[in-house]
Amino acid sequence: MQKLLVIDYWSQYTHLITSRFRHLGVYTEIVPALDDLNEKDLEKLREEINSWILKWIILSWGPNSVYDEDTLTLPKSFFELEVPILAICYGHQLTHHVNWWEIEWWDSEEYWEANLKIDKNSKLFKDIESDEIVVWMSHWDSVIKMAENFAVIWTTEDCEFGATSLEEKNIYTLQFHPEVSHTQNWIKILENFAEICEIKKEWSMEKFLEFELEELKKQIWTKNVFLFISGWVDSTVAYFLINKAIGADRIYPVFVDTGFMRLDEAIKVEKSLKTAWVKNLQIIDAKKEFLKDLEWVSEPEIKRKIIWDKFIEIQARISKELWLNTKDWLLGQWTIYPDTIESGWTKNAKTIKTHHNRVPEIQKMIDAGLIVEPLNMLYKDEVRTIWRLLWIWDELIDRHPFPGPGLSLRILCNEEDKAEENYNYQEEEINWFLWFEFEGKILEVKSVWVQWDNRSYKHPLSISIPLPSPLLRWEGIESFWEELSEVSTSITNNFSSVNRVLLNLWNIVETSIYRVSENKDAINGHLYSLQKWYLTDDRISLLQEIDDIVEKFLIEKDYRNKIWQFPVVLIPIGSEWKESIVLRPIDTIDAMTATFSKIEIKDLKELVQEILKNPKIETVFYDLTGKPPGTIEWE
Ligand code: XMP
Repeated sequence: MQKLLVIDYWSQYTHLITSRFRHLGVYTEIVPALDDLNEKDLEKLREEINSWILKWIILSWGPNSVYDEDTLTLPKSFFELEVPILAICYGHQLTHHVNWWEIEWWDSEEYWEANLKIDKNSKLFKDIESDEIVVWMSHWDSVIKMAENFAVIWTTEDCEFGATSLEEKNIYTLQFHPEVSHTQNWIKILENFAEICEIKKEWSMEKFLEFELEELKKQIWTKNVFLFISGWVDSTVAYFLINKAIGADRIYPVFVDTGFMRLDEAIKVEKSLKTAWVKNLQIIDAKKEFLKDLEWVSEPEIKRKIIWDKFIEIQARISKELWLNTKDWLLGQWTIYPDTIESGWTKNAKTIKTHHNRVPEIQKMIDAGLIVEPLNMLYKDEVRTIWRLLWIWDELIDRHPFPGPGLSLRILCNEEDKAEENYNYQEEEINWFLWFEFEGKILEVKSVWVQWDNRSYKHPLSISIPLPSPLLRWEGIESFWEELSEVSTSITNNFSSVNRVLLNLWNIVETSIYRVSENKDAINGHLYSLQKWYLTDDRISLLQEIDDIVEKFLIEKDYRNKIWQFPVVLIPIGSEWKESIVLRPIDTIDAMTATFSKIEIKDLKELVQEILKNPKIETVFYDLTGKPPGTIEWE
């Protein structure tokens, strides 16, 4: 099969580039960039190019500057390979830097959208009608001088060398991101490049299925497979793929009830899996064990690690009880392609979140050939296509995706008393920036997001709409969400102290009361003190209850299939014994990039009213942050 190779410069979004091209039918692989790419490596690439396998190389973006001490670079001879090259962001800067010109370190970053004027003579912009398109930018450094023979094919006011090309050698370098759906005409730009490379479009899920079943038969051979199954898409598809390859009798599926499932979910999953003919299913009630290990833990990465250690411990225990040995058994995992890089498994990628399937114990088993991972080449939406091709029972696929550690990631904990931290100064600055149209308050909890490919762990900003309620002015008007979306973007772009923007929905139900409080920590009468709370039965039950209200709302109001995923997060912010809820509905195709969903105001009002009937809830927030910069889950 002809292929496109993406050389990864530690970017979390390398997967997005890859998945975009696979959607165009182009088989795409990722290789980590090497710091010592030598003549032997180049020779290997040359061989693949000469035998018509390798048709095209992409240099990804990444978090570094070409001037960083530990950054990865390329020899100049790389650009003499007879293959088309598309270099994006860091790749664009690297191309010009390696070819002996300069990059400038900019003090002010360009982040989000920019208008670009395109050179319509370039093959890359073929059949794009307008002269100007909006593109998505995310960079600090800028090229200030071009390498010899290159031509500028795109420029903006702020970026003189926004895109360049060496058309006769089919080398294109772009400062903007053509793989992001916020870039206008992005599909056309990628298609044009595929056309320039004359690459065959040979990748399809039908072909993958054929290939993977043969591979599984070879790999598993006469052994048996032990597999944790959760009833969600990935583990269920992994089960049925292995089942198709070796038959149900040689698989031992185990469902572990961690206690972090949704309300009554464990019962529903068991019923669904049995209805879908999952044979030999064993159910383990491990609720108490999990909770005990997580007592007094608040740091998200430690939470994740404890959860996956517990899974490994349970697996070892069952193996011992059943006398399973490594000679006859393999461990099945439902790792999908992005999970392998988000954990930072490539040499230098930064860890955003640790995924269970790449913890050190598992890595050792992978190295010893004791793990089988039928989905590790696939993206989420490709897994769903396999589901359809395998004709697995529909009721299971209709559920929203749910993370393995479940609600434990959606209950924020806090162990230190951080009340002494003073945010007044930053808040004031932000409020000036907002022209006091909204009231901004930095909350003392923290959440993860991805910023220039690094993990960041910062505070959200809550914004409230002061009364008399402009919500009434905006109700039912499209521009309400549009305006909030712009506010959210400009805040995260301009203030590095906050990483998310939340709309406090308190006055969506209390339109006529403005409760002024003497307390500095109060906005609209709501206290914003941070509580010192851990994972407890009570908090899990509280979140399950609210999550269930949201689930019923989605079904009743017919949002179930319109919203891709709807995390509901419990945060320890409120007065005395109260906490608050964050609603995080998102729209996405593949969970790699996402925007927040725009629910009708009248429906939202009903939902918030219903949630606030619970006396333990102080207020409800709506997460207005996109991905990037925010991740979908908070932890
Ligand atoms: P993020 O938060 O990284 O989430 O934007 C992307 C998608 O992955 C899910 N997710 C997980 N799934 N184990 C899982 O099985 C995990 O540790 C995990 N963390 C995030 C998340 O729900 C979303 O669909």
